[in-house]
Amino acid sequence: MADDRTPCPLPGVTDGAPTADAPAGPSAPVLPGHGALDPATVAVTAGRPPVAPDAPLNAPVAFASTYHAGGPVAYARDGNPTWAALEEVLGALEGGSALAFASGMAAIAAVLDTLPLGARVVLPVVGYSGTRILVRDAGPPGRWDPVFVDVTDTDAVLAAATGAALVWLESPTNPCNGVVDLPAVIAGAHARGACVAVDNTFATPLLQQPLALGADVVVHSVTKLLAGHSDVVLGATVTRDADRCDAFRRHRSAYGAIPGPMETFLALRGIRTLGVRLERAQATAGVLAARLAEHPAVARVRYPGLPDDPGAARTRAQAAGPGTMVAFEVHGGAAAAEATARATRVIVHATSLGGVESTMERRARWPEDAGVPASLLRLSVGCEAVEDLWADLERALRIGAAAAASADRDL
Ligand SMILES: Cc1ncc(COP(=O)(O)O)c(C=O)c1O
Repeated sequence: MADDRTPCPLPGVTDGAPTADAPAGPSAPVLPGHGALDPATVAVTAGRPPVAPDAPLNAPVAFASTYHAGGPVAYARDGNPTWAALEEVLGALEGGSALAFASGMAAIAAVLDTLPLGARVVLPVVGYSGTRILVRDAGPPGRWDPVFVDVTDTDAVLAAATGAALVWLESPTNPCNGVVDLPAVIAGAHARGACVAVDNTFATPLLQQPLALGADVVVHSVTKLLAGHSDVVLGATVTRDADRCDAFRRHRSAYGAIPGPMETFLALRGIRTLGVRLERAQATAGVLAARLAEHPAVARVRYPGLPDDPGAARTRAQAAGPGTMVAFEVHGGAAAAEATARATRVIVHATSLGGVESTMERRARWPEDAGVPASLLRLSVGCEAVEDLWADLERALRIGAAAAASADRDL
């Protein structure tokens, strides 16, 4: 297999220094008293309580609805020590001030709700469906003025950005793995007076730091790779703008979209191992994507770590790696894809992504994802051994192809 099919290593995790063909990657965050650290190290070290003899090493779970008077946090809708630890890590990794929310959608809603009435918002025409549903259907009529575009088409985004309050980006996009030219779109949107928010769920700050690329806001479904164990729902916003951060905080307190302390603790514990999980899952995703691209049952693979992927050059320029998500279309249409998804034994047939367990589903099975190709399978690569995953996929592809062939015969 050609070297350039190998996904870029996480900076510093494997060999440290960027090479000529590997991107510089996200800048190293600086922690007070720690100097510049690799992001994978920051994920382990940030957010710890002050060092004191006999004090716990990591932030404990603080179950509290109320606090002694006299400080800035009087009541639990306004703050919590366990949230604060998670927020410190996320802020250090993304390079801004982070706020934890009850879910990724709660974080997304806080960003959108702080826009003026009737604000024009440019969004991905094929992207995470929850954001699309929120802007299109959830508010009162006229709350937002959404314009849906192909966010991988820079000219289309910038044409729509004129007069917009916000350009909402995902990169890579869910589920098709489209890669946005983040520096060009962010600069172009700003030149047209629009702010830019980036959903960084797929990449995580270990691979991509949108604030360093000029974005105004980053949001996360912490539920996914950051927490990493398919056992919590949590979200976050990150921004460098103090007023914006205050507005999101007020929104969180007023609407009560607050995370539970236990969930926050679990997410924090998950983030501690993000570097190793991501490194392994990304390496496996690269192998699986390359093999899928040569499999006769597969019509198309979308993985920006493949050299001929449309997003490969942008990924090399703006991220430290292509990530852990692989999308592929199979021959035989929806029937073959459904049968393939149901046939796996190691890979779990389930929605969601980013866990240590690999998961796969046909995204177009959801009515809201009707714009996604019918035979596209979204594979979230976890931490299982690569050959077990490949054997599982090969077997499932065989079963999927046979199911499609027998459906054809029955016609
Ligand atoms: C890219 C992306 N953003 C946001 C969300 C919403 O996050 P949550 O489910 O934590 O509310 C999801 C959920 O699947 C997602 O995939």
